[in-house]
Amino acid sequence: MVKICCIGAGYVGGPTMAVIALKCPSIEVAVVDISVSRITAWNSDQLPIYEPGLDEVVKQCRGKNLFFSTEVEKHVSEADIIFVSVNTPTKTRGLGAGKAADLTYWESAARMIADVSKSNKIVVEKSTVPVKTAEAIEKILTHNSKGIKYQILSNPEFLAEGTAIQDLFNPDRVLIGGRETPDGLKAIQALKDVYAQWVPEDRIITTNLWSAELSKLAANAFLAQRISSVNAMSALCEATGADVSQVSHAVGKDTRIGPKFLNASVGFGGSCFQKDILNLVYICECNGLTEVANYWRQVIKINDYQKSRFVNRVVSSMFNTVSGKKVAILGFAFKKDTGDTRETPAIDVCKGLLGDKACLSIYDPQVTEDQIQRDLSLNKFDWDHPVHLQPMSPSTVKQQVGVVWDAYEATKGAHGLCILTEWDEFKTLDYQKIFDNMQKPAFVFDGRNIVNAEKLREIGFIVYSIGKPLDPWLKDMPALA
Ligand code: NAI
Repeated sequence: MVKICCIGAGYVGGPTMAVIALKCPSIEVAVVDISVSRITAWNSDQLPIYEPGLDEVVKQCRGKNLFFSTEVEKHVSEADIIFVSVNTPTKTRGLGAGKAADLTYWESAARMIADVSKSNKIVVEKSTVPVKTAEAIEKILTHNSKGIKYQILSNPEFLAEGTAIQDLFNPDRVLIGGRETPDGLKAIQALKDVYAQWVPEDRIITTNLWSAELSKLAANAFLAQRISSVNAMSALCEATGADVSQVSHAVGKDTRIGPKFLNASVGFGGSCFQKDILNLVYICECNGLTEVANYWRQVIKINDYQKSRFVNRVVSSMFNTVSGKKVAILGFAFKKDTGDTRETPAIDVCKGLLGDKACLSIYDPQVTEDQIQRDLSLNKFDWDHPVHLQPMSPSTVKQQVGVVWDAYEATKGAHGLCILTEWDEFKTLDYQKIFDNMQKPAFVFDGRNIVNAEKLREIGFIVYSIGKPLDPWLKDMPALA
């Protein structure tokens, strides 16, 4: 029986391994983590992450061929294939701070593998890492190898949070990079055999190591660039009377462009896009490619611009001040169907409004009060982009922020409401009831373009939708962006 061990039981390690276990009953899969609370949660009825369909997959395999454990060394030493799916955040201090990937967790995982291994291993990079990381990992492993042979593969994960299970069941492609030596090719084949149990062979792409590593950074950069492109257009639409949805539809009909990922919004978030682009920028700079670095940096600048443009629009519409006014925030997660708040645009928008002394009442169906308070109290690492954010002490945040468990409660007595996550339930709220219980004039700022603005205007709301022709009220109060 092939044994797989995955180091890191996070958003990627957990769902990916659960699906491998489900699709490959003859493989024993152990997911290990240094975080006791995470592993305890994986072994409970309340999984540590929310993903549609995940519960069912875990329930079917847990205890049979899927195990979650904190016995990291034991499972690593027993495994034939070791996936490393630890976090690779942006470095916050030292060389490359604010851009380079922090590989501390990766390096410590690699050293531990070298320490405890007693048989040959295939080590798979699942985390998103800078191109050429495999070379560094190879050095750590071979310099400490005690005669054991390691093959390093790059197998970046392309799942999207919120649709992780669907993406894993039916991936657009699986990418495996490895050394082009006989042992390297054998290792590639071994991993290919795992995926081939449910993924059609023509969707399993094999490349050299560096192409696989770089493809993941490139894919995220392209995706984020599409969002920044449409968001840049949304600003121009507001200035000219064009409608960004109509423009996106017309543009997306071109088969060379395609219709997906062209929704204007308050900005992209999530743990990956910004960090991976910063990482790409850093790699370009290290290779003397300043122009290329600047090109990609602009994708993040537009994202920041979109968030501050939204805040400015809220404040300027409400008579240029939100001081002491209750503003409801509907949605805090970075996208629907996840509870993940890493780099969510809601953090910057809320901080911008708090900086103008608004009183926020926040509701998200999947994010806890603790998480929201923590996110808003944390000082964001300021790389080199200007976001007008005030550092907030936890006590100020507590005073100005309330977290409630119902959209009606959040909006009661509010002057305005901001939709920051596209949760389906926000589309079908009783907006008449919400209007009746709000201060007048009552404002809706739709950061995801999910409500029917015309219907809301009929009720009496003043509505701002990103990239859409402006409400007459808003035209008279131009944003100060
Ligand atoms: P995460 O933060 O949810 O999980 C990482 C886990 O690794 C944590 O539970 C942590 O305790 C554990 N860990 C760290 N060092 C360890 C060690 N030495 N031994 C054992 N466990 C250790 O991170 P997430 O979101 O799962 O991301 C992992 C990697 O996958 C990152 O490189 C990310 O860029 C990449 N990725 C993430 C995607 C996402 O949607 N979240 C999608 C595709 C790739």
